Amino acid sequence: MKCKVLTLFPEMVRDGLTTSIIGRAVENNFIELETVNIRDYTQDRHGKVDDYTYGGGAGMLMQAQPVYDAWRAVAEERTCSEANDSVCSGVSNGTDQGCQLKRPRTIYVTPQGRLFTQDYAAELAQEEKLIFLCGHYEGIDQRVLDEVVTDYISIGDYVLTGGELAAMVMIDAIARLVPGVLHNEESAETESFHRHLLEYPQYSRPEEWMGKRVPEVLLSGDHRKIAAWRLERSVELTRDRRPELYARFAEQEHLIRKMTKNKRVCIHMMESLHRGLGEILYADENTVCIYDRHCKLGMLHAFTADEASMQQALTALSDAALQQASGRTGISAAERVRGTMCSIICTDQVWLDQIRREAETLHLICEAPVQYRQACYTQNNPLRVRHKDIRPLTEEHHAWVIAHGTGERPAYLAERLASGALYGAFLEERPVGMAGWHTDGSLGFLYVEEAFRRRRIGASLEAFCINRQLEAGYVPYMRVPATDEPMIRMQEQLGLYLSEPGVWLFESDYDTCAADETTV
Ligand code: ADE
Repeated sequence: MKCKVLTLFPEMVRDGLTTSIIGRAVENNFIELETVNIRDYTQDRHGKVDDYTYGGGAGMLMQAQPVYDAWRAVAEERTCSEANDSVCSGVSNGTDQGCQLKRPRTIYVTPQGRLFTQDYAAELAQEEKLIFLCGHYEGIDQRVLDEVVTDYISIGDYVLTGGELAAMVMIDAIARLVPGVLHNEESAETESFHRHLLEYPQYSRPEEWMGKRVPEVLLSGDHRKIAAWRLERSVELTRDRRPELYARFAEQEHLIRKMTKNKRVCIHMMESLHRGLGEILYADENTVCIYDRHCKLGMLHAFTADEASMQQALTALSDAALQQASGRTGISAAERVRGTMCSIICTDQVWLDQIRREAETLHLICEAPVQYRQACYTQNNPLRVRHKDIRPLTEEHHAWVIAHGTGERPAYLAERLASGALYGAFLEERPVGMAGWHTDGSLGFLYVEEAFRRRRIGASLEAFCINRQLEAGYVPYMRVPATDEPMIRMQEQLGLYLSEPGVWLFESDYDTCAADETTV
């Protein structure tokens, strides 16, 4: 990811972000950090970048010209030949006519912005390039903000002396979510805000300090007991310190229990909540709607088919897409929302007509839905893995993964590879098959080279991934095309239970979504 920071104090940002974990990520090229001094772009002979505000009032304002020129210098790095063949729009002053320009996400850090959260960080972590604009004095001339800013973001309800510290906070929170930045042992999975719970207390050596002993259970070596103790402490801590977060956690637990009755068909929703990926957008006694912002995936289930409830759930989904896009400006509402929603899974045929009718408001660029059956492994005991040489695929196997990830976008495969979500079965030091899990947590990517089939390598790969997910405390599950008989049989042989009625997946054209998202 490229982070460009437009500031009057470049050394402050550089000094703050070139140490520790983010410093390491910059050094290892996971993050490209560039600071740009806005003063370098002023046309004023004396290097001035500010002036009095029209209409009176205390303080000075940063002027439009140097900010705009500094922004153009980093925004327009992409040349015409690099850009694809979509329509040119230029930036507005006419000088760009005839060449295609993509407006990078440009964030103005300001107390007047939308509040920065972990979810917002996760969304921005998916961008290829981010530009941060740091204001000073009384702010920046509104005309240049209208011209370049896509997101107005605040880090909290207080006022800092300038935008640099706020930009650094955001870059730190965003960068650590970029695949490869954190090492496994620093994983973002268990930390605060995961599942709306604060993190449990932690202890290190010595076992006793100032008469206080480390809780006995942590010394027991019993991982199940340790996990249960940690969850209990997290729940307690959240209830005491952050009652509003606890209320969200409690609502989720209630829903997960309710869906347990339809476990096979609801497993994706239960696991999405359990793993802290999805959030409840709407729930009443008849209907539930969950949204996974990271995957841009909406999930719908009706306990009873009540038209009014279902309509409310669908409205909640399109509102969420709109809200996710609400910090973004300079493009029409429709354009902002398009690209926010990529797919919808519904668990009953009763939804199909309603979703099709709402396709426009949901900004679904949907094809006809595909029917899947869900398979889940509900036992706790690990599966036997016959093929012995299974290990994580790495950058070294990039070309092989792209060549064999049937039906998946290369960019998505590359992201899964960098996230450590793909495993390979090796024979004589080369991969002959792979499996892994998708961003929503479901298992997939199962592939074995033709010459090595019928040796149960595929089953071994899936069993291996199931065991990894069990270790993480998850219920492993996958979606199987309803007509794929051999795959269904394989799931049954492995001991997975399949949902009898299927689920329907409306999937958008992801490439169209991604392009729509950034084209001005
Ligand atoms: N600049 C000044 N105060 C700020 C805040 N709270 N958030 C983001 N940028 C700021």
